[in-house]
Amino acid sequence: MTKRRSVIIGTGSYLPQTVLSNDDLAARLDTSDAWIVERTGICSRHVAAPGEFTSDLGAEAARRALAAAGCTPADIDLIVVATATPDQTFPAVATVIQHKLGMTHGAAFDVAAVCSGFLYALTVADALLASGGYGRALVIGAETMTRLLDWDDRTTAVLFGDGAGAVVLEAQMQPGSAADRGVLASRLHSDGRYNDLLHVDGGPSSTGTTGHLRMKGREVFRHAVVNLASVMGEVLEAAGLTAADVTWLVPHQANLRILEATARKLNLPADRVVITVDRHANTSAASVPLALDAAVRDGRIQPGDLVLLEAMGGGFTWGAAAVRW
Ligand code: UT7
Repeated sequence: MTKRRSVIIGTGSYLPQTVLSNDDLAARLDTSDAWIVERTGICSRHVAAPGEFTSDLGAEAARRALAAAGCTPADIDLIVVATATPDQTFPAVATVIQHKLGMTHGAAFDVAAVCSGFLYALTVADALLASGGYGRALVIGAETMTRLLDWDDRTTAVLFGDGAGAVVLEAQMQPGSAADRGVLASRLHSDGRYNDLLHVDGGPSSTGTTGHLRMKGREVFRHAVVNLASVMGEVLEAAGLTAADVTWLVPHQANLRILEATARKLNLPADRVVITVDRHANTSAASVPLALDAAVRDGRIQPGDLVLLEAMGGGFTWGAAAVRW
C-alpha cells in the first residue's frame, strides 16, 4: 500500500533586527530580569521595526524555506498562513505574501488559531496535499504580537515577541508505514469556553478597534500542560508510535516551565527538546516553525528523526503533529 504524504523539504525563518532585553522592559515597567527569567525562561525578544509588517516577516521566512527546499515560487500552488496579527483585517496575509513572492497562481488563505495556528495550518495543508489537488505548499506562521500588547501591563508585555517561520511541504508517494517521511499524523482540538482566559479585547465587529492582548496566565498554564500531554499521546497513537520513538520535541515556546513539564510527561530527556523561548519569547503561530528551523539549520534534526510538534493557545485551541524527517 502506498500513501500520499506531505514531506517537509525545506524550512526557513526570519526575526526582526531589533532585540528587546528584559532589562529594557524593566526600565519602563515594574518588573525585573530575575522575575522574567525565573517564571518564563525568556531573556530577550525581537520586535518588528515601524513599517515592518507580518507579511514582510512571513515573506522573508518563505523565501528562506524555498531556498532550503531548492524551489522557486513557481513550484508552489498553495500558501497557508497562520497568524493572529494580519497587516489588515482583510485581505488575508497569505495573499499579501503571495504577491510579495511574485506569484499570481495557486491558492492562498489564512487560518486563525493563535498560538496553535501553525499546527492548524500544517494539518489543513497536509489534507489538501493528500487530496491530490495540490502538489507543494508553503505553510507559514508569522506574527507581530508586540503590536497587540498593552505596554503598561507587566503580566503580558514581557511574554511576547515578533517573528516568522515557514516550511515547504511536498506531496510524495511513500510506502504507507510509520517509517514514511512526512506528516504521519496530526490532531487538533478547541474549546471556546475558555475564550476569556486568553483573548484580545477588541476587533472589527465588536469594538471597531484592534484591542490588546489579555491573559490570565496561571489558568492558561494549568490547561496547557494537561491539554498538550493529552494531544501528544493521541497523535503518537494515531501514528502507531510511542513516546520512546520521539527524537525531537519541538513545542510552542510560551514558557520554559511548560516545555519542561510537557517533556517530563513524555519521559523525554531535556536535551531532546528544542528551546528558543529564551531568545524569541512567545511568537504565537511563528514559534513552532521558528524553533523547527533553528534545529534543522544547526544540524540537530536529521533524516529519519521523528519530530513531534505541539502548541496550545487562545480559544482555547491546541494540537500536535508527528513528522518523520
Ligand atoms: O501562548 C499561549 C499560551 N500561553 C501560555 O502558555 C502562558 C501560560 N502562563 C504562563 O506562562 C505564566 O502563568 C506566566 C509567566 C504568565 C505568569 O507566571 P506565574 O508563575 O503563573 O505568575 P502569576 O501570574 O501567578 O503571578 C505571580 C506574581 C503576581 O504577584 P502577586 O499577586 O503574587 O503579588 C503577579 O502580579 O507575579 C506578579 N507578576 C510579575 N512580577 C514581576 C506578574 N507579572 C510580572 C512581571 N514582573 N512581569
